[in-house]
Amino acid sequence: MLDLSKSGSEGRGGMALMENQTRNPASAQAAHGGQTAAERFGVVERPDLTYTPEVAEATAHLYERVKDHIPAFEWPVYAPYVHAINKLKKERGAVILAHNYQTPEIFHCVSDIVGDSLQLAREATLVDAEIIVQCGVHFMAETSKLLNPEKTILIPDVKAGCSLSESITGADVRLLKERYPGVPVVTYVNTSADVKAETDVCCTSSNAVAVVESFDSDTVLCIPDEYLAMNVAKQTSKKILTWKGHCEVHERFTAAELLAYKEADPTIEIIGHPECHPDVIAVCDYSGSTSGMINYVKDTRPSRVLLVTECSMASNIESEVPDVDFVKPCNLCPHMKRITLPKILDSLVNMTEEVIVDPAIADRARLAVERMINLKN
Ligand code: 13P
Ligand code: SF4
Repeated sequence: MLDLSKSGSEGRGGMALMENQTRNPASAQAAHGGQTAAERFGVVERPDLTYTPEVAEATAHLYERVKDHIPAFEWPVYAPYVHAINKLKKERGAVILAHNYQTPEIFHCVSDIVGDSLQLAREATLVDAEIIVQCGVHFMAETSKLLNPEKTILIPDVKAGCSLSESITGADVRLLKERYPGVPVVTYVNTSADVKAETDVCCTSSNAVAVVESFDSDTVLCIPDEYLAMNVAKQTSKKILTWKGHCEVHERFTAAELLAYKEADPTIEIIGHPECHPDVIAVCDYSGSTSGMINYVKDTRPSRVLLVTECSMASNIESEVPDVDFVKPCNLCPHMKRITLPKILDSLVNMTEEVIVDPAIADRARLAVERMINLKN
């Protein structure tokens, strides 16, 4: 029998937190008068997870959205979680923000807002709820917390990291600034608050060129994603200095494998995420953020398309564009896949894991994110 509580990335090589990464420093608990979220909001009883006729009826319309990805005989395992999460979410007055890489049952059945990193950061400033459950990786939850210091931000698995975020520390950025005095620092949003605190302006894959171009300086530090920086460098006259960080999902794609797909079917459109190596982007018909890719497919309706990005993206949009045939050379993000329905339910039941940013760095980190959000692009 399928057991959702055992799904996720454990046992599939998910990278644990590096020791230099701090999560929820105890000193920062002061932000909420020293009380944990569980103390402030209370812990509720874990709902019954029986697949009853009422649960079947209440979730039938949601199953329609994921029926191409979840076999009907498995839905009785998913549905009680979906039903319990949606009910408890309402009772708690919580909102679920989910990244485009979340699995279809999270993306389509329990999320209130979905999007790319920039959209989620923007939405986090607009959400009218005391509690945000961030279905994504830790830096996304931390960004939401920076933008909403008074709100309670929960992440269903605090170990959901990111190879880019873990490639660099605030101390590394301080050394770079010593080495390149006066050079503006643009930091990818896929970084810890510690790194953001050392940053002039953050960027995401959808606005990196605009952020780099917003400086008068001829040289800009664009860190920590080396490939994103190389892709940006092709679109600006500025000299770009970077770092050796890589996304462990996107660095696996090669130009040779994509060319083989093109050779097999010259009509296929290949669209890639800018975290891929520039050689990969060179063979793509379009490159953009996850939402940029989704919009490209929705707007241009290619008959056959290959999304050079994380697995769940194609699954999440397939049902909205039934006329498009998706080819899936799937690479999985083990960090994104740590977020599961059972863990989301646990989050809402126990009010965990609460994301706290050390006040000593929060104000400076927030400024870097707000400058990005306020940049007109
Ligand atoms: P975007 O959604 O901003 O394109 O980011 C992709 C990504 O890898 C997030 O971890
Ligand atoms: Fe980080 Fe890459 Fe996973 Fe995004 S897909 S969270 S950049 S490792």
